[in-house]
Amino acid sequence: MKLNKEDIVELEITDIAFGGDGVGRIDECVIFVPFTITGEVVKAEIIRRKKRFYFAKLIDIIKPADKRVEPFCKYYQSCGGCQYQHIDYTHQLRALEKQLRDIMTRLGGFDDSLTILPMIPSKNTTGYRNRIDLHPRDDDEYGFCAKGSRPREIFSLEKCHLFELQDNFSKFPLRSPGKLLVVRTHSGKPYCYFKDDHNIVCSGPYDLETMTEIKDESVYYEVNGKKFFSPYSGFFQVNKFILPDLIQIITDFAAPKKSDVLADVYCGVGVFGLMMADKVKQVYGVESLKQSIVYAKRNAVEMKIDNAEFTAETAEIYLRRFVDQSVKIDVCIVDPPRNGLTNKVVSSIKKIKPPRLVYVSCGPATFARDARKFVDAGYTLEKIQPLDLFPHTKHFELVALFSFNENS
Ligand SMILES: C[S@@+](CC[C@H](N)C(=O)[O-])C[C@H]1O[C@@H](n2cnc3c(N)ncnc32)[C@H](O)[C@@H]1O
Repeated sequence: MKLNKEDIVELEITDIAFGGDGVGRIDECVIFVPFTITGEVVKAEIIRRKKRFYFAKLIDIIKPADKRVEPFCKYYQSCGGCQYQHIDYTHQLRALEKQLRDIMTRLGGFDDSLTILPMIPSKNTTGYRNRIDLHPRDDDEYGFCAKGSRPREIFSLEKCHLFELQDNFSKFPLRSPGKLLVVRTHSGKPYCYFKDDHNIVCSGPYDLETMTEIKDESVYYEVNGKKFFSPYSGFFQVNKFILPDLIQIITDFAAPKKSDVLADVYCGVGVFGLMMADKVKQVYGVESLKQSIVYAKRNAVEMKIDNAEFTAETAEIYLRRFVDQSVKIDVCIVDPPRNGLTNKVVSSIKKIKPPRLVYVSCGPATFARDARKFVDAGYTLEKIQPLDLFPHTKHFELVALFSFNENS
């Protein structure tokens, strides 16, 4: 059957794909319909055709699912930020778990015996984000990108329910022509700065109350009673409400022992390594962003931790040196960006062979790819614990434990 643009079709949604779109079929044609739920019967208009599937726009819900709820944001569906506000929160978690299992099967070649634990929910499902990036508009207001707009269309918005601050930033008084406005909260006072499209900071940070420039040394995040100082424009986990759970899972999976050497690869300002430093003999942290390493070292000093060594280098070069010098690692934590591990990093870890490898990922597809490589090299993928760090969106985090037994 061939469908054309603007055709109206009626179909049953049989799944929710990674990314959030509902999936249905008419004969052999696969059709993606955003903002729908498994079990629903919907009317949709075909808007785009790809080689093997179609994209459609939801026109009407003929048979709604009992999991359907009223979205709480008036920008939902026009803003590209959230994908799941129309689904009751518990069911969002079940849908994401299923997506993870499907990805592990399809992209990693794992079967149903793989242990995927139930997703840990976020204690706060709104007001959990500690940062928003706002785009400048021609009319001098700030806003978000409209979903799927090409060329990019920016709509002005009064507030984002996911952000910790509920102020209206659309008419923010500070401006930097053509630059994005980043507003961030931390355990101290909120602040903002300007950056370009390539993530290069142009000016700031500014205090949100006084609109005056501040010293970035004041930016810190309190986690489980510990203060982590951080560069104002550097990476920090976005959801403080679930961070203690994330750290607990990583610690449980790492099972640190007093005799252990632990590597915290992609360490940022050293949160994971420093949280476990008192449980191991030695921590090695590596991170490519020099500024983050300055702060990781500062955090170790402030916490009076003297068994943690942090290096500003790429994981590729750093781990290669460990291979060359035959450094023994008992526990290796990796927390790479969404594109996962490079072949060089995988290859070095396979040579170092840490008995416990804890992989923290926000990109399930690249994780599945990397997991297959470790399993093919003799590692056992013991379990995966997903966590909902980003409620109402398509994104989630996972922590996986791999073990390597030299004698088996
Ligand atoms: C997902 S963040 C994790 C940070 C840290 N584990 C945390 O939770 O705060 C990934 C980090 O990897 C760093 N990074 C990116 N590419 C890298 C590379 N090739 N080698 C080392 N670090 C890298 C980024 O600067 C970023 O801080």
